[in-house]
Amino acid sequence: MATEQEEAREDSGQKIVRLIRPSVVVLCGPAACGKSTFAARHFRPTQIISSDQARALVCDDERDQRFQAQAFALLRCLIEQRLSINRLCVVDSTALTPPARQALLELARGYHVPAVVMVLDVPLETCLAHDAKRERTVGQPVIERQYQLFEQAKAALKQEGFDQVIELKKEDMEKAQIEIIFRPVPRPTTNAAPPERRRYAPRPPRAAAGNKGSPPSAKPPSPPPEQPSS
Ligand SMILES: Nc1ncnc2c1ncn2[C@@H]1O[C@H](COP(=O)(O)OP(=O)(O)OP(=O)(O)O)[C@@H](O)[C@H]1O
Ligand SMILES: [Mg+2]
Repeated sequence: MATEQEEAREDSGQKIVRLIRPSVVVLCGPAACGKSTFAARHFRPTQIISSDQARALVCDDERDQRFQAQAFALLRCLIEQRLSINRLCVVDSTALTPPARQALLELARGYHVPAVVMVLDVPLETCLAHDAKRERTVGQPVIERQYQLFEQAKAALKQEGFDQVIELKKEDMEKAQIEIIFRPVPRPTTNAAPPERRRYAPRPPRAAAGNKGSPPSAKPPSPPPEQPSS
């Protein structure tokens, strides 16, 4: 059954990809296949949640794999906050293992939004050529190992429960046209006042000894004195 989210090919051969906002769009592909380049070409910088950037933000080095847990916690937090206000989340990570994909799928499920995976199906030789040309190379053994995982991922993905699996070949990645359809998920509204208003909100008048009968001051109470930092 065709859905709005389904990809379609126009007569011109142009690949039209329809996505819903909010949703979680998981890019899947080995190192140097062009995930970040593709994302930057087709999405706003703020729509892209990148595992490299999350690592850089938590530990100053996007290549430092020791802080995966912290980087993923940040990635997850960003996705949750964006989904809670009906924003699109394009996750730029390799997503090569079932647990990595499952975690993102469950996040989408938790917020009742579609979970989409975009398989960037680029030949191994292209990934190696891209890697050789870039400043931050990861090296042939890493790419070959990731490519094997990628082949397994391509076979497994369709049974993992994603609402849509979109396969883009190398030539599609440049020609693709992304259309985003806004279909908000109703969320309970929060009535939280901005912090500065909460801080200066008038308190009920206190009955102080010797102050009986005097009108309550029109002036809002002063904020509590700052605590010295330790
Ligand atoms: N279509 C393309 N044509 C030519 N060069 C490309 C193309 N796509 C990406 N590149 C180049 O290949 C290199 C790797 O691309 P990119 O960083 O987007 O890959 P990646 O999949 O995000 O890699 P990683 O998983 O390591 O983050 C970059 O130097 C980029 O400029
Ligand atoms: Mg990248």
